[in-house]
Amino acid sequence: MKEIKKVTWRSPSNIALVKYWGKKTGVQIPANPSISFTLENCYSETSVSLVEKEGNGSDIELRFYFDGKANMAFQLKILKFFESIRKDFPLLNQYGLLIHSTNSFPHSSGIASSASAMSALAICLCDLQEQLNKKKLSADKFLQKASYYARLGSGSAARSIYPQIAEWGKTNSVKGSSDEYAIPYTKNLHPVFQTYQNSILIASSAEKKVSSRVGHSLMKTNPFARTRYAQAEKNLKELLVSLKTGDLEKFGAIVEEEAMTLHALMMCSTPSFVLMAPATLSMIERIRRFREESKLPVYFTLDAGPNIHLLYPKKIAKKVKAFIYAELEELCENGRMIHDKVGKGAKKMK
Ligand code: DP6
Repeated sequence: MKEIKKVTWRSPSNIALVKYWGKKTGVQIPANPSISFTLENCYSETSVSLVEKEGNGSDIELRFYFDGKANMAFQLKILKFFESIRKDFPLLNQYGLLIHSTNSFPHSSGIASSASAMSALAICLCDLQEQLNKKKLSADKFLQKASYYARLGSGSAARSIYPQIAEWGKTNSVKGSSDEYAIPYTKNLHPVFQTYQNSILIASSAEKKVSSRVGHSLMKTNPFARTRYAQAEKNLKELLVSLKTGDLEKFGAIVEEEAMTLHALMMCSTPSFVLMAPATLSMIERIRRFREESKLPVYFTLDAGPNIHLLYPKKIAKKVKAFIYAELEELCENGRMIHDKVGKGAKKMK
């Protein structure tokens, strides 16, 4: 198969501080604004090659390999995504696509892989189409476009491509914010947040009990939905103040409230889901006790799953790691954890 063009991008996962949970009517429009730390060590690396089409029909021709092996389940997901955006990407009709992707983290670790995978894929498509069009966008516009299409693949993916912190969702609290793409949030940022560490403590690597898509849709009938969306707006506004001033206690209190609310919403949805594991609760108790005793600003957040994301500034990393190995490692499944930190966003590979 003759390769016509190829690009490779690495795009990271992210961890939300104010959570996106619930969609408005429309295509992937969030019910509330969200904000996240971009990660560094947890990423997807994806290469997309354009090849000559085999048939001359209008079908999208796609082959997808994950870790070097053909993967039909992912291929179908990607095909659906590409069908939805093909009017904006003539290359999807003109060429066959050969896609290779890998993750830096194990699939079973419960780390949100759709954010890194979909953002890597979207940015590859934008890059290729731009090369074919021979018209270069400014760097800002290029990332905004990639974020727009990443969002259509998976909402949280919109935030993954920017360095450090990204905000997604229209809100009066952030100038230039949009429901359609994320924007970088680096202006009013206290330098301590550039040093933030994220230790991911694997409480359980069991398959997700509920997909994000279904989880979001349960908000449609959740009796607390309205209150939640108002809370998210308020939490975002207040979080921005702590991000500016470097008030780590306020920052941590909001981040933990967001994590607990996300899980509480799932518990009181119909049907109900408990996504924490027994080890999650034990870790939360130990983290809170450690914080009380040590007075160190170490706080946790959670994704829609059982794993703890411990957040702390680099200057206390030594003490926090000593605590992790003394008290939390034994609660991790097979002692598994991943030490990550605030990262630099999507990166083009040679
Ligand atoms: C709990 O982005 O995975 O991680 O848009 O349906 O693909 P879809 O959902 P997804 O939802 C992520 C939810 C979350 C919170 C967050 O990242 O903001």
